Amino acid sequence: MARQNAVITGWGFYAPAKVMRNSDFEKLVDTNDQWIFERTGIRERRFAGPGESTSTMATSAARSALAKAKLKAADLDLIIVGTCSPDYLFPATACLVQSAIGADRSGAFDIEAACTSFVSALSVANAMIVAGTVRNALVIGAETLSRFLDMTDRSTCILFGDGAGAVVLEGSNASVGIESAVLRSDGSKGELLYVPAGGTMHPADQSTVDARQHFIKMAGNEVFRLAVKSMVDAAEEALSLANVALGDIALLIPHQANVRIMDAVAKRLHFPIEKVFVNVQRYGNTSAASIPIALCEAVEQGRLKRGDKVLLVAFGGGFTWGASVLEWYGEHDWDRATLSPLDIAARKLGDLVDRVRPL
Ligand code: UT7
Repeated sequence: MARQNAVITGWGFYAPAKVMRNSDFEKLVDTNDQWIFERTGIRERRFAGPGESTSTMATSAARSALAKAKLKAADLDLIIVGTCSPDYLFPATACLVQSAIGADRSGAFDIEAACTSFVSALSVANAMIVAGTVRNALVIGAETLSRFLDMTDRSTCILFGDGAGAVVLEGSNASVGIESAVLRSDGSKGELLYVPAGGTMHPADQSTVDARQHFIKMAGNEVFRLAVKSMVDAAEEALSLANVALGDIALLIPHQANVRIMDAVAKRLHFPIEKVFVNVQRYGNTSAASIPIALCEAVEQGRLKRGDKVLLVAFGGGFTWGASVLEWYGEHDWDRATLSPLDIAARKLGDLVDRVRPL
């Protein structure tokens, strides 16, 4: 198989209907809308309702992404779900999605790198497509962190939200695609942001439940400081690997944890804040889902057109962080089901134009 680039041909997201406004937390803990908004930029976030879970939200996002790509689930080769809040320890959430959408010949596995999971999953799927191992992949970031929030801890419960975002990645002869991916980690800082119990180190028992050890614990200040530095480093490295100048980036889509982190990253990079996509005010920190949801909204708002360079950058528990430069491909205007010889010729011509364009 000839070497191909991986391009995003479909995208979709799901946000649960239940809106939790800052004022809703005033009834639970000693906090207020002003503090939350000034310190985080968050106004509201979504919480999954009864019967909703990471896999159900991931499935909704996946269906939208497949519809946009005009790709049948049965033609999928691979499903990767990036999540740190899976439905079960196992089976993988990706397998639940595979079954729900009827992707009968697809491989499926999860990737867990906390808020960096989507960027990690995208990097793996890209590598597999470029290597010719798979033709296409459904890459999903999905989280239900509300189920791991200690509603008596004001320093964490106000930060996180639920949701899912998905993209379809396909091999293409077009010159556009994922141009670089940088993944980094520092496991020595794991306990600055983690869920202490429920795994093999501290299995669930009455004492772990009584000690509220099944909820997210975070040393916010230290996470903040390292997030800014690491995101800047990863962004610079991804740009350099892709041989792309910062000035050529049309849109920076950072992980949506805190508007002050995003401002600080843009400032340190000397990148114009108007070109940074921000929707944390409406969703809070949705961890692995934040970048794909933001990507979908950026497209919906007409902020990306074919050929635009996009910089994704993430940071999360682990610690993990990473960045990716990609050139936006976007919606294709051909229908696979009725692909005529003329359509195929037109597509080939489009790819050829793409290929000679940079010459
Ligand atoms: O997605 C993975 C990466 N995660 C992140 O990037 C999160 C990074 N961290 C942050 O975004 C910020 O550190 C927080 C938003 C979590 C906290 O903001 P901060 O400016 O670092 O506040 P702080 O932790 O230094 O706390 C300042 C004060 C403390 O009171 P005292 O000790 O000064 O009296 C806190 O107890 O604010 C208090 N505080 C609150 N007050 C009202 C903490 N949470 C709240 C709250 N409402 N919800």
